Amino acid sequence: MAVHALIPAAGSGRRMGADGNKQYLELGDRPILARTLARLAALTCIDALHVIVPDDERSFCRDQVVDRFGLTKVRSIVAGGVERQDSVRNGLAACGAADDDVILIHDGVRPFFPTAQIAVLAAAAAVEGAAVLAIPAQDTIKEVVAGRVVRTLERGRLWQVQTPQAFRFAVIDEAHRRALAVGFAGTDDAALVEWHGGPVAIVPGSPFNFKLTTPADLALARALLAAGLVEG
Ligand code: C5P
Repeated sequence: MAVHALIPAAGSGRRMGADGNKQYLELGDRPILARTLARLAALTCIDALHVIVPDDERSFCRDQVVDRFGLTKVRSIVAGGVERQDSVRNGLAACGAADDDVILIHDGVRPFFPTAQIAVLAAAAAVEGAAVLAIPAQDTIKEVVAGRVVRTLERGRLWQVQTPQAFRFAVIDEAHRRALAVGFAGTDDAALVEWHGGPVAIVPGSPFNFKLTTPADLALARALLAAGLVEG
């Protein structure tokens, strides 16, 4: 059984307010995406990386990230799609995995994922079909319609889900095919598996594994790194 990591990094980064794509912003001594890829590549449980970027950024990504930082585990640089779900589907089609292989799907803009949990996550996916990193919700979450609270959800049952998310290839490929056929859109990959009834296991994540979306996230990431509070 091989483990392939797909790294969707084909978003526009509008909320970061940067000129170029947010994953190329510097974090410490290297672009965010290079940091994420290097940490994945260092894990012995991962056999191959497949990076997904906008079609017109593929050669830039090869030169400025993959070759520049010697990321020899990167097997392919795949053209992304309009939505994240389209990008992941392109990655699934290009990665050449077998049905029993494990696919890890990890946002290019989450550099501080907990490395010690990744082999656990992959093993859980091999057994259960699907597994995600998650942490218990700390805030109270309310459902709001037209500016008014309609319901307070029971916090003890709520988890904030992160990436990597891991799947047996046959499970996630089938889920994406079915979603495409009827136009179902999920906000993460596990939602597509849940939608057609598949089990999804929870593996403990980390509060440092946040997604770098806004300038505030980037400032926090730089401060954590400078203070030595996260593994580089
Ligand atoms: O937009 P969001 O913050 O949810 O993006 C999460 C990850 O998905 C980012 O790494 C982003 O580059 C990627 N993405 C993608 N293709 C898109 C949109 C987002 O690969 N069309």
